[in-house]
Amino acid sequence: MSPAPQVTVDPFAAHTRGVDEPHPARAGLRAAGPLVRAEAPSGGPVWIVTDDTLARQALVHPQIVKDTAYAPTSWDPRIVGLEPTADAQLSLTTSDGPDHTRLRQAHSPLFSSRRMGGYTERIGAIARDLLHRCTATGETIDLMADFTTRFPLTVVCDLLGVPLDRVDEAMEACRGMYANEPEQVGQAMAAFADLSAAALGEGRHGLAAELRDRLPEVTEEQMHYLLFTLIYAAQLTTDPALGFLLARVLGPEPGVPADELVRDTLRRHSPAPFSLWRFTSTDIEFAGVRLPARSPILIDIQGINTDPGRSIGPDLVFGAGPHYCTGAHLAQLELRVVVEVLKADYPHARLAVPYSALRQTDYGGILGSRLTALPVNLG
Ligand code: HEM
Repeated sequence: MSPAPQVTVDPFAAHTRGVDEPHPARAGLRAAGPLVRAEAPSGGPVWIVTDDTLARQALVHPQIVKDTAYAPTSWDPRIVGLEPTADAQLSLTTSDGPDHTRLRQAHSPLFSSRRMGGYTERIGAIARDLLHRCTATGETIDLMADFTTRFPLTVVCDLLGVPLDRVDEAMEACRGMYANEPEQVGQAMAAFADLSAAALGEGRHGLAAELRDRLPEVTEEQMHYLLFTLIYAAQLTTDPALGFLLARVLGPEPGVPADELVRDTLRRHSPAPFSLWRFTSTDIEFAGVRLPARSPILIDIQGINTDPGRSIGPDLVFGAGPHYCTGAHLAQLELRVVVEVLKADYPHARLAVPYSALRQTDYGGILGSRLTALPVNLG
């Protein structure tokens, strides 16, 4: 058994780069091998899977788990962005095995392709309304300033049953999650709990209330955390994806069918570029490497999806295995619908700057990147 090659590039650094400029660390990670060792944001080693086949093995490996109770004891949860342990807070994103299966069984029918398809018109109406409001604000507008965040949050609030006059609070709470100050993150979490309570209030009939009815054993506080996960995941991913997608539609690729453009944009600019943290629950041998218990593992979704040597097949944009994205149908529907509404209602809409002048910022850590601005004339 040999150790995994160690890379010297920092895959977790924050950068600003051109819209189509490749991420500076990805090629180096891939060149180093299918499983490479890097320095984690909070110090100590992290093992990164850069190969598609190996990634799919990791994503179903019974001893590679999500529970942050297995994170290295030396880690600062705030620096790494760690969730509470599965014991402290029941969640899809930190549990495995029967607890996780139970949660998935409760969520899956609510977010199925069929169920989401039933919201197509409603999502179209939200897109139409928000774009219309943008045109009232002036000739050139920056879609990243408000629209790309507001749209997915309005949709997810509407679906869950959060009153829509509280979308501003949801936007503020999402912004608070990026703050470095622990108090701000605490305030954001409290705001998410309030929004969740509102969705579960007397007379509300959204998916939040349905989820609660499907999980009678789950406490009110646990339910708030489950709803937080849905609201935050919906913004964190669909917001940046929308920016990259609209830049292509309003820039160099107006004629490409919406479905094709959505798929290719998500592959090129994967919004969950490193997956979420996983840890070995015991000593294991993986890809010929001995990994001690509590070894952190990430999947380089972005690097694998953009590997020039990769054969065509399903990509890893939404993950794979038991933790495959709950919101995959919803996200793709939202993205497709916005493109269709934009093309139908604003046939003369164009970028207000050359496509090549657009810039993206990598937030660093395991977060993805987002356009710094998307100035457009809706026409
Ligand atoms: C383009 C948009 C999106 C992308 C690229 C994306 C990507 C992902 C990925 C890669 C995972 C798996 C993470 C891992 O295994 O470590 C995941 C999980 C998840 N996503 Fe998404 N997501 C998107 C939109 C959404 C939306 C709209 C929602 C909310 C409805 C959502 C809710 C979730 C949840 C709850 C999980 C955890 C599932 C589990 O652990 O069982 N996502 N997502």
